[in-house]
Amino acid sequence: MKSYELKKKYIEFFKKNNHKEIVNASLIPENDPTVLFTTAGMHPLVPFLLGEKHPAGKRLVNVQKCIRTGDIDEVGDEFHLTFFEMLGNWSLGEYFKDEMIEMSFDFLINELGLDIERIGISCFKGDKDAAKDLESAKKWEKIGIKKGKIIFLPKSENWWGPAGNTGPCGPDTEMFYYTGEKTPKEFNNEDKKWVEIWNDVFMEYNKNKNGKYEKLKQRNVDTGMGVERTLMTLNGYDNVYEVDTLKPLILKIERLSRKNELRSKRIIVDHLRAATFILNEKIEPSNIEQGYVLRRLIRRAIRHGRLLDIKHRFCSEIVKEIFEVYKSEYKFDERFILEQIGKEEEKFDRALNQGLRVFENEIKNLKNKKLNGEIAFKLFSSYGFPLEMTEELAKEKKLKIDKEKFEEEFEKHRELSRTAAVGKFKSGLADHSIETTRLHTATHLLLQALKEVLKDKSIMQKGSNITHERLRFDFNFSRKLTEGELKKIEQKVNEQIEKKIDVHWEEMSLKKAKEKGISGAFEHKYGEMVKVYFIGDYSKELCAGPHVTNTKELGKFKIVKEESSSAGVRRIKAILGN
Ligand code: SER
Repeated sequence: MKSYELKKKYIEFFKKNNHKEIVNASLIPENDPTVLFTTAGMHPLVPFLLGEKHPAGKRLVNVQKCIRTGDIDEVGDEFHLTFFEMLGNWSLGEYFKDEMIEMSFDFLINELGLDIERIGISCFKGDKDAAKDLESAKKWEKIGIKKGKIIFLPKSENWWGPAGNTGPCGPDTEMFYYTGEKTPKEFNNEDKKWVEIWNDVFMEYNKNKNGKYEKLKQRNVDTGMGVERTLMTLNGYDNVYEVDTLKPLILKIERLSRKNELRSKRIIVDHLRAATFILNEKIEPSNIEQGYVLRRLIRRAIRHGRLLDIKHRFCSEIVKEIFEVYKSEYKFDERFILEQIGKEEEKFDRALNQGLRVFENEIKNLKNKKLNGEIAFKLFSSYGFPLEMTEELAKEKKLKIDKEKFEEEFEKHRELSRTAAVGKFKSGLADHSIETTRLHTATHLLLQALKEVLKDKSIMQKGSNITHERLRFDFNFSRKLTEGELKKIEQKVNEQIEKKIDVHWEEMSLKKAKEKGISGAFEHKYGEMVKVYFIGDYSKELCAGPHVTNTKELGKFKIVKEESSSAGVRRIKAILGN
């Protein structure tokens, strides 16, 4: 089956069941500054899952383009992708478990023609927050799934959401399909031959800012079916790159490459497809937020082009093939995309070759299995290698990087540029000028001061934008701040600056950070290991940095404006004077 057919079948089926098709929304979330990309079909629907009225009604269906970068290191294997399309349908406070499970069964068996004996079902096991989902299990059984094919799993497996820190979520029931040879008697979710193809989430809870699960006003259904993964399963392929939207791209890269590195080919195809769709949102490669993810995707693809021994600039050839594959479904701003890809490739191309030479030379003389942090830093600052790329290079040679030394160099360099009174520290990738670094540290102090003065621990960053002149900080709070409060906040921040507190960071697992109650606005952007920045005992936050080493470097903190940013979100603009 082809991708177009599956999508059409799905949409038609739900339309027949009185659903309205809604748009395939932008990849850039409109009202959620805490998340860089749309990660699921439900994402743009959050206000409606919470009870707002949707103009298209209560039964919705669509195809949604999504980006998930959490598993980016896994890309190159059989089925991890950063960009994918998701089929989804929703009940906004209308039908619930019974009707949804009936429709799921009908679609899988009667529309897709799947073998009922090869379908496995998982349901939520129950815990202190919500009861065991016996209703779903009973329904599946009644409809014809044998008991041995229905299992109960804990929250880690059978609970979905919220997409950010708070919001709609609930237990889910997941449908798996067996891809092995002999039809098994029982369903075992740990056996990789069972592939998850559809997820029905029963969103009747809202996780609030205190981490509590409260019942929502309405009981919703949110389902998601990954297009590529489902097609892989339906067609009996052993990897997603056989699917009709990805296969031509693999063939194209195969024609260009002179080496047979499967993983590199897949990384290029995946990354350039994601990059094309991000560029189509008018995002340009840059050093911040979505633009930085875009830059890393393109640069990593280029590096893997080298591994395939491609001697020329090749990105645009793949991108043109992507236009071709999706031309009947998506409208691309071809000129802009090709121009931007071309520019980024040109920018990185020469630096990459030189940097790779530096790397190769360096490892020739290595005495132990550790790459000097100074070299990693040089590759970063002079050749624009994201640290993760150098890490990947090192890993391929079974080496580790001295990250501490890297950080030290980073600090030293900043110190140098500071004494030289250079206005801007050009690190190659991130904007780490002294001004923005100081303002960045100031936002940490500001957040803690806001929590204290407004006596609200749930306050968190909803957005941050720093220029050389000022910081702009968005946070959740429901009313205007008074003059008195603003004065107190300023005072608190300045007290910490005057105390000359040391700033340091530690690396720990995200799990450990969470156990310690440390959070940050962009948790999901980070991998397993995270950096926690400490400003003495005053503030601790998950953050990628960079920061000053002591608060005495900040100067005088002054709030210049306080205003509303959006519903329930306030915005402060502040500067650092001398
Ligand atoms: N939100 C759920 C998921 O992403 C169902 O769509 O799997």
